[in-house]
Amino acid sequence: MTVRLVLLGFGNVGSALARLILAKHSEVRQRYGLDLRVVAIATGRHGAAYDEAGLDLARALEIRGSTASLSELAQSQASSDITGLLEEIEAEAILESIPVNYQSGQPAIGYLETALRRGMHAITANKGPVVHGYQALSELAGAKGRQFLFEATVMDGTPLFSTWRECMPGAQLTSFRGVLNSTTNFLLSEMESGKSFDTALEEAQALGVAETDPSGDIDGWDAAIKVALVVTVLMDSPLGIQDVERGGIGELEANQIRAATQDGLRWRLVCSGWRENDKVRGRVRPERVGPEDPLYHVRGTSSLITFASDVLGDLTIMGADPGPNTTAYGMFADLLNAVRAS
Ligand SMILES: NC(=O)c1ccc[n+]([C@@H]2O[C@H](COP(=O)([O-])OP(=O)(O)OC[C@H]3O[C@@H](n4cnc5c(N)ncnc54)[C@H](OP(=O)(O)O)[C@@H]3O)[C@@H](O)[C@H]2O)c1
Repeated sequence: MTVRLVLLGFGNVGSALARLILAKHSEVRQRYGLDLRVVAIATGRHGAAYDEAGLDLARALEIRGSTASLSELAQSQASSDITGLLEEIEAEAILESIPVNYQSGQPAIGYLETALRRGMHAITANKGPVVHGYQALSELAGAKGRQFLFEATVMDGTPLFSTWRECMPGAQLTSFRGVLNSTTNFLLSEMESGKSFDTALEEAQALGVAETDPSGDIDGWDAAIKVALVVTVLMDSPLGIQDVERGGIGELEANQIRAATQDGLRWRLVCSGWRENDKVRGRVRPERVGPEDPLYHVRGTSSLITFASDVLGDLTIMGADPGPNTTAYGMFADLLNAVRAS
């Protein structure tokens, strides 16, 4: 079966996904009988291209590293406007990886809505549409017999949502606790080894672990949106990012990090969610943790979440060395799961 794909966003994650599709193409055809074919790629400033027979992905990757526009790959006519393109073309799935909009989830929500309405599975690495549009997009997907999946959004491709979906039917999540922001954990780990905040930040930026404007990580926004997302999806209770009690590592002084180290402790930006009476609450804040706590052992860019449920003891999932390649795998796994289930 031919599976026509639209890649919306062709940055770090979108291009890693294209490389993975190329690398796994024959394996997927052999194992699952699926012929993955990217028919369209759309970006913000680097153009868009549509070829109903399938784009030359290797050339698309070369173009990404140059000053050329993706539009030189176009072999079929389609609107240059993304919504127009999605209205016109035929595809089985959209894989969206455009920048997060913490406030509204747009324009990604609109793009995913259009794709679902047109009968495509909608897969995203972008937290915005999940926090702001989970219910509506899931309902629309259900009505269309398609899936809205987002494994890549929280732990860079480490399977936490599919673990709940596939392995824990009938279970209720009562609370969770974890380290979900790689950048701040990297900074804390570097500062524990004696570096100043500024040096650690420069290093993180040079490695591509931190953004040029790192405030989304430092002020706890990225962690807060992940808490809101996990609560909304796994605790069946819509929680806005503003409803998450939020602190960031920017409030920590170097001497506090040193003092914790001397006491045999480490600071971690702890993300948590829990049920309280008939409400669910979410929080992000720096906490001192000791060696008996799994969070103490989360170093560098790794992340970890521990789930408490009404059926099992604590279940901990850890993802080591995350990045665009692991995130791309989260999207790829969602794609295979969606297509094989339909
Ligand atoms: N990087 C990671 O490891 C990671 C991990 C987990 C989740 N994520 C999430 O994945 C998403 C992408 O991350 P990234 O690192 O790949 O970002 P990125 O490198 O900045 O790439 C973003 C892509 O989206 C395109 N784009 C921007 N605005 C657009 C719009 N309005 N419509 C269509 N395309 C648009 C950009 O095109 P131009 O460059 O032409 O503007 C670019 O191709 C984000 O939501 C991020 O939070 C990333």
